[in-house]
Amino acid sequence: MTDRILNKALARQNFDRPPVWFMRQAGRYHSHYQKLRAANSFIDVCKVPELAAEATMGPIQDFDFDAAILFSDILFPLEELGIPLEYNPGPQLGFLLRTEQDFNRLKAVRSAEGLTYQFEAVKKIRERLPEDKSLIGFVGAPLTLYYFAVEGSHKNSLESAREGLTDGRFEKFCKFMLPLLTANMRLQAQGPVDAMAMFDTCAGDLSVNTFKEFALPAINYVLKEVRQAHPDTQIIYYSKGTGPSHWDCLMDSPIDCIGIDWRHDMVEVLNRYGDRFAIQGNFDPELLRDMNQGQLEECLREYFSPIKALPVEKRKGWICGLGHGVLPQTPEANVHLFIKLQREIFG
Ligand code: CP3
Repeated sequence: MTDRILNKALARQNFDRPPVWFMRQAGRYHSHYQKLRAANSFIDVCKVPELAAEATMGPIQDFDFDAAILFSDILFPLEELGIPLEYNPGPQLGFLLRTEQDFNRLKAVRSAEGLTYQFEAVKKIRERLPEDKSLIGFVGAPLTLYYFAVEGSHKNSLESAREGLTDGRFEKFCKFMLPLLTANMRLQAQGPVDAMAMFDTCAGDLSVNTFKEFALPAINYVLKEVRQAHPDTQIIYYSKGTGPSHWDCLMDSPIDCIGIDWRHDMVEVLNRYGDRFAIQGNFDPELLRDMNQGQLEECLREYFSPIKALPVEKRKGWICGLGHGVLPQTPEANVHLFIKLQREIFG
């Protein structure tokens, strides 16, 4: 185990200040990223390793987060399967998986060779990243990738995706996606990254029983293979819109940390789950975007205070962050204030 505080917290062995990083810390709210995007397409920033490394490093240089997250996107494995992918700025897929014929257009790609640009980016980032900072890789969870493949986004009517859980399309999708996703995680692990996140943005759409029946076996299939091949790579599983009854299903999965959204009380979650999981999250990204500095300071002090009051033993697996990604329009000054106060309070 390294001495990096993120990795110590993932091992629930961090007796120092809790580490901080944000999902989407490299994104449109940040002038560094805007400059990079003014000169390059989103896809080039993801696929040209020097640019991906530059995007990844921007928030480390400007805000001093404790961990970097590889600059990429969860949808590239869909492109590997033969679905054309563009961003404008939201993802646009060339076709959606609705019918038998749509599935016939997929390529059975089991190797992550086409995603080698992620591996190259990881190498370049590690060269630039200070020794004490961790690098996090990531993929999308099978269910979330399936929702995007069937619906094109997470905003449309989700009826077809729901039907596909029981009409065999989800199962078919998994036959294509799971070997590729496993290879994708292994590729990043070889980089090497210090930890890997699996983002399940759509998980909260499912009832607990449906989650258990469909989403969970697919998660476990991938993570068990990855754990076996890379036992030292710590795994974060983030899900949005879920709660304790979903998390209870994850107890036997090879997951070191659960990322939770802003709807939950962090102290309760640490008390209830802190002996099994490190916990990542969960400040509300809308508050970070919308509050002025005075309001935000007050709100953050209120948020941090009960967590700080816990015995260190109870929060040794807490990774401080947001309940979802940083939103565009978030003032950079608010991100600075968050980091400054967190360091001041937890010292
Ligand atoms: O966190 C980071 O700094 C690393 C970068 C990162 C991106 N996407 C870059 C990105 C990460 C971790 C992701 C994950 C991702 N991508 C998820 C899971 C997490 C979540 O946010 O729920 C999902 C569902 C996607 C799919 C995706 N990619 C969507 C829905 C969009 C459009 C959303 C938007 O913000 O407009 C993207 C595009 C995207 N991915 C952007 C960035 C910075 C914006 C594109 C641009 O710069 O033009």
